[in-house]
Amino acid sequence: MSNGTREHWSGGLGFTLAAVGSAVGLGNMWRFSYMAAENGGGAFVFLYIVLTALVGLPVMLAELTLGRGSQKSPIQALVHYGGDAWRPLGALFVAAGFVILAYYSVISGWTVRYAVEAALTGFPQDAGAHFGAIASGYPAVAWHLVFMGLVSFVVSGGIASGIERVSVALMPLLGVLVLGLAAYVTTLDGAGEGYRYYLTTDFREVLDFGVLKDAAGQAFFSLSLGMGAILTYASYLGRDRNLPKEALLVAASDFGVAFIAGMVVFPLVFALGVQGDVSASTLGALFVTLPKAFAQMGGIGRVIGGLFMLALVVGALTSAISLLEVVVSSAIDGLGWARRSAAWVCGGAIALLGVPAGMSLDALGLMDQIGGNLLLVLGGLVLSLFVGWRLGERALEEGEVGGGNRAVLRLWLFMLRFVVPPVLLIVLWYSLKESAALVIKLFS
Ligand code: PFF
Repeated sequence: MSNGTREHWSGGLGFTLAAVGSAVGLGNMWRFSYMAAENGGGAFVFLYIVLTALVGLPVMLAELTLGRGSQKSPIQALVHYGGDAWRPLGALFVAAGFVILAYYSVISGWTVRYAVEAALTGFPQDAGAHFGAIASGYPAVAWHLVFMGLVSFVVSGGIASGIERVSVALMPLLGVLVLGLAAYVTTLDGAGEGYRYYLTTDFREVLDFGVLKDAAGQAFFSLSLGMGAILTYASYLGRDRNLPKEALLVAASDFGVAFIAGMVVFPLVFALGVQGDVSASTLGALFVTLPKAFAQMGGIGRVIGGLFMLALVVGALTSAISLLEVVVSSAIDGLGWARRSAAWVCGGAIALLGVPAGMSLDALGLMDQIGGNLLLVLGGLVLSLFVGWRLGERALEEGEVGGGNRAVLRLWLFMLRFVVPPVLLIVLWYSLKESAALVIKLFS
């Protein structure tokens, strides 16, 4: 598609809500709480905030600049600015989209199922056994396929009349749900213990590189960075937008929701006395502990739990849409496919790739480690080097279009050149080590 006919966001808030919709998702609730629980609570939260500001924000602005400047999907955007040699790295982004959406959709399928069950039958008393029964196997695959069908349908509708419409309708609802839930849990006896666990920090843990790696991976995952999702959304953006402002708005909203979601999850878990399960089951923590709490709360638990699951479904859907859009926009721009066929063919291929994750939690965990941690951090490193060194001053000029402040942009370029790459190299090293260990463990 040529630039002249490229689709664009229609309304003022369309892009912002879609980008926030991409960022806010299962990462904020499922992944954030399980990563925080695995890494000692407060220490993790602290590092996550630092990394979001120092590494996440600069990479977000890099993606916005590349996307809006080139008006192209990720692969073409890298080729546009860097030449053909960069094509394989763009392909890496599309590959990350494939892997992440494949298992993300399986988890989304769990949430849809829980939401439907909350409405129809309530939460079962034996949450652990229930999760065990539904997390893997044919039912998990079936719900995954339903979810992928929904995602493909929205993406086939296009930017303004598909993605934007859904985001504008659903994101405010998600904000209201999360705030309402956080207000409700303040009324529970015993919630204080949860706030304390969540917000106090043992600073010795901050020095642990394992925590650093997980906090960085989580910052990228949660902000939808490192695989061109924000880049792709920005490619449908006009030249009137102030990019540094957009970056700040999206990152702050994402952090806000993650933080408030923690203010829902931890007090609930502690007030109901189910905290032992958080460390016992990591990947499924949210899907075992919380339903258990909801079941114990009786009738009100069903309502609160149902609303919580609804918030999860909304977050998951708008994020999954952005993951698929990366792949679909690449097929449209690179292969000349029509949007409708691109959405269904790519959605179908990703649905197939998700089948192993639906059949086995080990496969799902491995895909999360490789896609969610490794590929995103690698992508972030590539983006920072590309925009910082290859584009350099050109990136500054693009950033200024729409009113970006020059001093802020100078600081940004400095961070992209000298701060982000070394931090990400360290993180990547630990991530590689852990992924290798996981692969060896799974296959030995
Ligand atoms: N940011 C999403 C979440 O927090 O759930 C997940 C995600 C979406 C990651 C899009 C990466 C991406 F490109």
